Amino acid sequence: MGILEEIVFGKGYIVIQANNIEILEDIQDQLIGFASDHKKLEEVLSIGDLRKRLGKLSSNEVNDVVLSLISFSDLSSMLVRAFSDSVMELVGESIYLQRRSHIIFNSGFLDNTVSAHIDGMSGISPFSLILWTGSHDIDDDSGIWLWDQEKTMKYFQEQGKNKAGAGENVLNTDEKKPLKLKFGEAVVFNPFVLHGSIAHQNPLSRIGFSCRFQSRKHPLFIRNSEFYYPYQLQ
Ligand SMILES: [Fe+2]
Repeated sequence: MGILEEIVFGKGYIVIQANNIEILEDIQDQLIGFASDHKKLEEVLSIGDLRKRLGKLSSNEVNDVVLSLISFSDLSSMLVRAFSDSVMELVGESIYLQRRSHIIFNSGFLDNTVSAHIDGMSGISPFSLILWTGSHDIDDDSGIWLWDQEKTMKYFQEQGKNKAGAGENVLNTDEKKPLKLKFGEAVVFNPFVLHGSIAHQNPLSRIGFSCRFQSRKHPLFIRNSEFYYPYQLQ
């Protein structure tokens, strides 16, 4: 099964490899540069150091760092170029690309995890795909967990029959097994795959990126040009 078939007809997600890993290294360097402008992170020299220092910040300070990273405006194009072989195989060269990719920290001991959700809930089109990757190896429980799309849809059908919202059942499930990813790997998934993150005990914060894109051949529906911009991969 090819990667597009796996995403559309199979599990709904697949792990891909970067074909331009040097761009991910460049992202690391730029991230360190932007982060070290923040007064709490002065003189951060490496990703390991940044993860350690982030792990000592309060929730408010972490939010403040996230805001200061809004200046990293090339992040989306760098992410899709790092994985361009797979992205082009999935959606072609002419894409709509998320204007600002998300930089997401999961700090141990802080409750800043992402609750279970599907991205379709936030108004992106059914033709959008989500790419999620780490800025380092993720070999603990700090990464993203995903359910396959069949299990996700069954869950929502059950919830519909019971006239219940996405609430306690899914939030309390133990079936959240975060994916381990090597630096240079990403998971790509469709907007009907339940996912989130869980708390972990690692003193090093996890630094993840998420980026959305779709073919320009398909309609955007609710999320329009404020969210996306046209981008040409070649
Ligand atoms: Fe999401």
